[in-house]
Amino acid sequence: MIARRYPDGPSTLSAFGGMASSGSLSRVPGFLERVAREYGPVASWRMPRARFWFIDEPALIEQIMTASGYDVIKGRGLRRMRRLLGMGLLTSDEPLHLRQRRLVQPAFHRERVAGYAATMIASARETAEALADGETVAVDALMNRLALRIAASTLFSADVDDDADAIGRAVTGAMAAFPASLSAFGELLDHVPWHPATRRFKAARADLDTVIYRLIEERRRDPRDHGDLLSILLSSRDENGDAMPTELVRDEALTLLLAGHETTANALAWTWDALARDAAVEARLHAELDEVLGDRDPVPSDYPRLPFTRDVVAEAMRLRPPAWILGRRVIRPIRLGSWDVPAGSVLLTSQLVTHRNPRFWTEPERFRPERWSNGETERLPRFAYFPFGGGNRVCIGESFAWTEAVLVLATLARRIRFQGLDPSRVPLDPLVTLRPGRPIIMRAEFRSAHVSV
Ligand code: HEM
Repeated sequence: MIARRYPDGPSTLSAFGGMASSGSLSRVPGFLERVAREYGPVASWRMPRARFWFIDEPALIEQIMTASGYDVIKGRGLRRMRRLLGMGLLTSDEPLHLRQRRLVQPAFHRERVAGYAATMIASARETAEALADGETVAVDALMNRLALRIAASTLFSADVDDDADAIGRAVTGAMAAFPASLSAFGELLDHVPWHPATRRFKAARADLDTVIYRLIEERRRDPRDHGDLLSILLSSRDENGDAMPTELVRDEALTLLLAGHETTANALAWTWDALARDAAVEARLHAELDEVLGDRDPVPSDYPRLPFTRDVVAEAMRLRPPAWILGRRVIRPIRLGSWDVPAGSVLLTSQLVTHRNPRFWTEPERFRPERWSNGETERLPRFAYFPFGGGNRVCIGESFAWTEAVLVLATLARRIRFQGLDPSRVPLDPLVTLRPGRPIIMRAEFRSAHVSV
């Protein structure tokens, strides 16, 4: 018998039909799920420009994530983000990536993140205090503003109120203009400067640059350590003692600002949605918050004392992982399990699919935060759960994100219940991150006994 060269998978035609939909990725999750169900842990198919592989097997996902950056590089989606993010950590290749990662890493050391925690709590408190009892809000937009404010304050310093708003407006504009450029025709759009989508995107990027370059210049004139990320970027020196070029400071700052707020905002929005649908989990969360915090807001050192709050976030990110797909392009042939993967191949993994694989998860579709403390998840293989990726490209902001999500949830949930108003399932809007496909409208109900001003 002749050994097969590639694993089975869908035909090119059905892959086209399964994935294509004009300007959006909305059909991709369902398609990948069908592929995993039908063809198992490794599937492969041919597309016009490359062979695609979809991997739903933790051991192989680990191999991909830990492969050398000289063998595999980021996939097309993230490389397209270079139009906005330049050569920041998320989008650069080796050797630049490793050099930059070493320079940026100190901004995420444990003591630094603990320092940002107070800002996270203060921003959440302000958000809570701006709400009225009974007010109806779009929780996804609320979380986006809050997470952006936290990212802007920790990145550019806590005392830049007006700047945080200006950055917020510019980021929102750039993000709104970005989806068009990710579509199948996005690359063509770059060459059509008069196209409205291209013009909108360029204008938004220019606004963002104006704010960021101004902040960099101001900080250069006042180079004390402000305890924020920008101070670290500007004071970092490479092995020759050279400072980071201004353009790269801009790229890294913008990358951290975007990667640092959009994902966490989605994690929190999906968490509120899940909580509002499960009274028992919500009650257990309130019980933990009441016991640990009583009638005060959390302080940074409360973080380890809120294990169930953390489990709620972990479970929300299992079912609705903010980073839902990770792609890599193979540039030097690699071996994956028993398969030889040729250069030029595209490797896809999806948290959204693997986090619900019934081979690893009991009751995979159910929101059950208790699974994280009852021993169930201890038996999981590594990379059955990988919301933050892994290997040399693992999320640099992972502990920042956990700290933020847990402390923001604790600060808000101890004061406020968000009551869902639309019982229908919130559709997914999978783009770079997994956004809710419609506004999550909720009523803010004060938990009266616990509101201390
Ligand atoms: C719940 C929140 C978050 C999630 C789910 C998340 C997820 C991820 C994932 C999956 C990756 C790997 C991408 C890949 O391998 O292609 C990544 C990378 C990255 N994330 Fe996050 N992230 C979150 C929060 C943050 C925060 C708060 C920051 C910064 C303040 C941040 C900054 C970055 C950066 C700079 C990278 C690129 C790292 C590198 O390649 O060296 N992320 N993130």
